[in-house]
Amino acid sequence: MEYRLAIIGGTGVYDPQLLTEVEQLEVVTRYGTALLTQGVYQGERVVFLARHGKEHGTPPHLVNYRANIAALVKLGVQRVIATAAVGSLNESMPPGSMVLLHQFLDFTKGREATFFTGGEAGVVHTDFTEPYCPELNDILLQAASAAGLQLLQGGVYVCTEGPRFETPAEIKMFKQLGGDLVGMTNVPEVVLAREAGICYSTVAMCTNFAAGISPTVLSHQEVLDVMSNNVEKVQTLLAEAILRLPQKRNCSCHSLGHKILL
Ligand code: HPA
Repeated sequence: MEYRLAIIGGTGVYDPQLLTEVEQLEVVTRYGTALLTQGVYQGERVVFLARHGKEHGTPPHLVNYRANIAALVKLGVQRVIATAAVGSLNESMPPGSMVLLHQFLDFTKGREATFFTGGEAGVVHTDFTEPYCPELNDILLQAASAAGLQLLQGGVYVCTEGPRFETPAEIKMFKQLGGDLVGMTNVPEVVLAREAGICYSTVAMCTNFAAGISPTVLSHQEVLDVMSNNVEKVQTLLAEAILRLPQKRNCSCHSLGHKILL
């Protein structure tokens, strides 16, 4: 069985609201067990995964990213559209705006960030010139335009280790380095997807201006509130995107990836 799409729902996107005939799946991998949902949208069978678990029980640094991506490989998933709540460093990307990710800067520490750990798993250096799938990004832009939604382009995502928010000094540094958005989960998710040859794109939802730019202190509740006010836009975008997925992939994500141990 092959799936053309899996959705990885980040903070505030816990339910596969679009889907009917919903069924829970438990996929066992050598990295751990992943809990997923499969369902149907307009005749298309898709997979949904809540990154932080159903009740947001798993913090960003403890998500089992390898089990999640390995499970998608086991299920035969071709593409992932991920959602992510982010803080903004860029005045032209204010809270409430949706941004398509284009590049990332990795400031995580101590995460299991590769399938290729040597020995039986192999030593592989994967190309990341274009970390997010260009074809899937195009589909999302077309979907946004069809739905009359604004989807900003070119987001440079800074991934921090969390779970704490950043200091204003860190945000100032990230801005000087070219970052637009800050979050805690896109790395290693995007990395593992590419290593496994899965197309991967992220729709980021800005929930706040980052520390030191925001006039107020940051809170997880603020992130949840802004997310819940804007989640409908994300759902509409996903629904439009599903309708536009080609049968066959025309990008190089698959050939840039490698066989991973499952
Ligand atoms: N920093 C890191 N992660 C986030 C933020 C932030 O300001 N907002 C939402 N996720």
